[in-house]
Amino acid sequence: MTKTFEELLTAFESNTAKIGVVGLGYVGLPLVTTFFEAGFYTLGFDIDEMKVGKLLNGESYIGHIHSDTIDKAIIGEIFQPTADFSRIREVDAVIICVPTPLKDKDQPDLSYVESTGDLISPYLRKGQLIVLESTTYPGTTNEILKPILEKSGLESGKDIFIAYSPEREDPGNPDFSTKSIPKIIGGDGSIAVKLASSMYNRVVIETIPVSSLEIAEAVKLTENIFRSVNIAMVNELKTIFNGMGLDVWEIISAAKSKPFGYMPFYPGPGLGGHCIPIDPFYLTYRAKQFGQETKFIKLAGDINTNMPNYVINILKKALLDRFQLEIDCASILLIGIAYKKNVDDTRESPAYKLFELLESGGATVEYFDPFVDIIPITREYSQFSGRKSIIWSKQNICEFDATLICTDHDNIDYEALVSYSKLVVDTRNVISSTNNKSNNVIKA
Ligand SMILES: NC(=O)c1ccc[n+]([C@@H]2O[C@H](COP(=O)([O-])OP(=O)(O)OC[C@H]3O[C@@H](n4cnc5c(N)ncnc54)[C@H](O)[C@@H]3O)[C@@H](O)[C@H]2O)c1
Repeated sequence: MTKTFEELLTAFESNTAKIGVVGLGYVGLPLVTTFFEAGFYTLGFDIDEMKVGKLLNGESYIGHIHSDTIDKAIIGEIFQPTADFSRIREVDAVIICVPTPLKDKDQPDLSYVESTGDLISPYLRKGQLIVLESTTYPGTTNEILKPILEKSGLESGKDIFIAYSPEREDPGNPDFSTKSIPKIIGGDGSIAVKLASSMYNRVVIETIPVSSLEIAEAVKLTENIFRSVNIAMVNELKTIFNGMGLDVWEIISAAKSKPFGYMPFYPGPGLGGHCIPIDPFYLTYRAKQFGQETKFIKLAGDINTNMPNYVINILKKALLDRFQLEIDCASILLIGIAYKKNVDDTRESPAYKLFELLESGGATVEYFDPFVDIIPITREYSQFSGRKSIIWSKQNICEFDATLICTDHDNIDYEALVSYSKLVVDTRNVISSTNNKSNNVIKA
């Protein structure tokens, strides 16, 4: 099984290499699919036995990955999910896609990366490529992961090859998939870059080598901080323009006609998902170690964090003005609990914050989400786990004093929603003015 660098390169170039993906979540499962669809024999590793069991039964647990795809790959024996990490020996490449969340006080939690290193290092062998894809701060691969992997007695650059290549997936975006997004590659030495590039070149449109692991790590943070800061700016503009009676969405729509120097970002009820609210703090943490401050990140975080309060204040005022109803006597239906449109992922969703603010203010709150029948167990809002979506019907919707649109899923009949609701607060600009005939929609 041991391979020289040249043999490993040939195995990647001829699609005969065996690929192992560790962490079969929102990133790892689509990635493994991309590899087996390109003809690679794949092994998928996860510590979650329930996920492994489902995959072995040909079932997908991620909305946009069809069970059929998994089932065919299992039957065709090109994909083997397993919780047995001794099988790391069998693969030529190990790609790590485990969570990198925050722990208390916005500190990076690298425990998943560390424990993955500990799990795989006893089974590493000469001639393997190990790639970290999890989002993290510059220095993680070299200073945290590499020493753990080298506990195996194998030396990076000589016996094993270590690279970092950030995942840039945008779940639910029909225009881009793993295959169509270029991959940034940094390595511990030029051989690692060459090997990782040759592997990813078989499955993605383009690879972009950079000069170090740290540069590759910093590219991903730069992309996500760019989004976080721009979303904060447009959220602030929304509050300012709203105060002047101007519609921010109409302004953005006209501004984006400029063919250069402007890129549209859209306001919302807050920031959600596993990446944008979290990743900037990885840089803040690292910057502190270099005696630096991250002022933009802090300001963007403050503005985005305050958006749910802004929305609730608009809702409260509308209830009082229109129905003389205080929030503690009101019943509110949230539309969309997922953090963004057309996905079932609720991690860090701003809808949870709205849910919490409304319930703590005494309101009766329920939700409707066609992608989330039952709220899963979440790290940060465990009090909502097990709550069920209401069933879509005129009768169910018209009982509420107000509906609050948190997520703009495409498969919702917004025209019907407006006609069933007493009052609609739209944080996503999904209701057009022509659908606001009875003047019961306000934007927030
Ligand atoms: N979800 C996205 O849209 C997205 C986009 C780009 C980058 N990322 C980054 O990708 C990484 C993974 O995110 P995700 O959304 O796929 O997370 P996820 O929680 O959906 O999946 C992670 C998986 O890793 C498994 N796992 C945890 N510890 C493990 C271990 N020691 N060994 C093996 N498996 C283990 C979990 O059981 C889970 O199945 C994160 O760093 C994230 O920031 C995510």
